[in-house]
Amino acid sequence: PQRLVVVGGGSTYTIGMIMSLIKEKEHFPLRSITFYDTDELRQERVAKASEIILREHYPELESFEYTTDKEYAFKDKDFFFVQIRTGGLEMREKDEQIPLRHGVVGQETCGPGGMSYGMRSIGDMIELVSDIRAGSPNGWILNYTNPAAIVAEALKRAYPDDQKILNICDMPAAIMVSYAKILGKEIWDLVPEYFGLNHFGWFTGIFDKEGNELTEDIKRAILEDGFIPEDSEIANDPSWIKTFKQVEKMLTDFPEYLPNTYLQYYLYPSDMAEKEDVTNTRARQVINGRQERVFSMCDQIIQDDSLENVHLEVDIHGCYMIRVAASLAYNNGDIFIVMVKNEGIISNLPDDAMVEVPAMLTNRGPKPFAVGKIPRFYKGMIEGQLAYEQLVVDAYFENSYEKALQALTLNRTVIDAPIARRILDDLIEENRTYWPEL
Ligand code: G6P
Ligand code: MN
Repeated sequence: PQRLVVVGGGSTYTIGMIMSLIKEKEHFPLRSITFYDTDELRQERVAKASEIILREHYPELESFEYTTDKEYAFKDKDFFFVQIRTGGLEMREKDEQIPLRHGVVGQETCGPGGMSYGMRSIGDMIELVSDIRAGSPNGWILNYTNPAAIVAEALKRAYPDDQKILNICDMPAAIMVSYAKILGKEIWDLVPEYFGLNHFGWFTGIFDKEGNELTEDIKRAILEDGFIPEDSEIANDPSWIKTFKQVEKMLTDFPEYLPNTYLQYYLYPSDMAEKEDVTNTRARQVINGRQERVFSMCDQIIQDDSLENVHLEVDIHGCYMIRVAASLAYNNGDIFIVMVKNEGIISNLPDDAMVEVPAMLTNRGPKPFAVGKIPRFYKGMIEGQLAYEQLVVDAYFENSYEKALQALTLNRTVIDAPIARRILDDLIEENRTYWPEL
């Protein structure tokens, strides 16, 4: 059984993750769970509730602990699930609002918001990996801290020889769950063909385990009946419903491949910026919605010292992460879409790009499948985005205002250099205590 650390124990996703760990305990049996967070009080509420959930549903677990002492938390562990948010949801709200004030997309990972968040995340992530390695030189680090593309690029540069850091995003899996629903199947029945960067990719094909192609069935169903959200939380969430409408639009305009939902910000930037309300961006909705719900549920569990008055749901995204971990731990060779160094996988993109592609996960790490040459449109889109991501990381390491300005100017959500400069100056101002000095 594995010894797991959840880094960012106080996250609004942690309770869902605990439920997933319980559901998946046969695939990924645990000896211990340790929560680590820098915010003691926030983590304590989640942890005390988790303790009760685990007591009821995971009697085999030998130990559950939570701490703000990283040296203690990181000592001799097998797996680290990393989900930190430097600056919290408060800074996420600024990341979304600042670009919107300039008429540009305001999103936590796409456009200037992503750059803002990236420049905050890089330093903490580099420090975190070094702290983890001090205690567990051989532990697997599964990172889903955002903006994952920028974090992956920075970690690649900071730890070029570390073979046990894997950056992953749940979005391709979440989209596949929706495809599975359309087809009346389960995600585990589907085999994807996919290429791109994180939050910037396309499914070129979806197959069943027998090798039958299902891609056209999915496209037809989406165009005829709409895209079906993958879980009930999302199905009732206006911002997700809007996102799924955009998938239909993207597929109508660009029918060749099935798009990652995040491409809406790059293909329809003015539309996306116009529709947003600067006083009620996604961060505000999460603060008042999921965060409020999760913490009051935790308080209820703690008060009752039981689960009788709450409704707990398994988080499918969590299950996906756990199957990823299981495949690495037990050499299952399952196929997942993950971020890896290109090294010829997409043969007409640079070798050093961190690309998002399907890979077989073994105990020696991800073994990606060759993609080959991608068509001009996608190559052009990806190269622009890749240059933006790499320039952001250059700006961080070189303390370069100029590179930051180049990055924003290149981003499809901005384009206009004077607007890029105005947004950058606002971001620098708001991130004074987080960013390196440019
Ligand atoms: C998806 C993405 C994540 C992102 C999340 C935001 O799961 O893959 O990268 O963090 O959406 O969801 P939220 O509900 O916080 O807006
Ligand atoms: Mn993601």
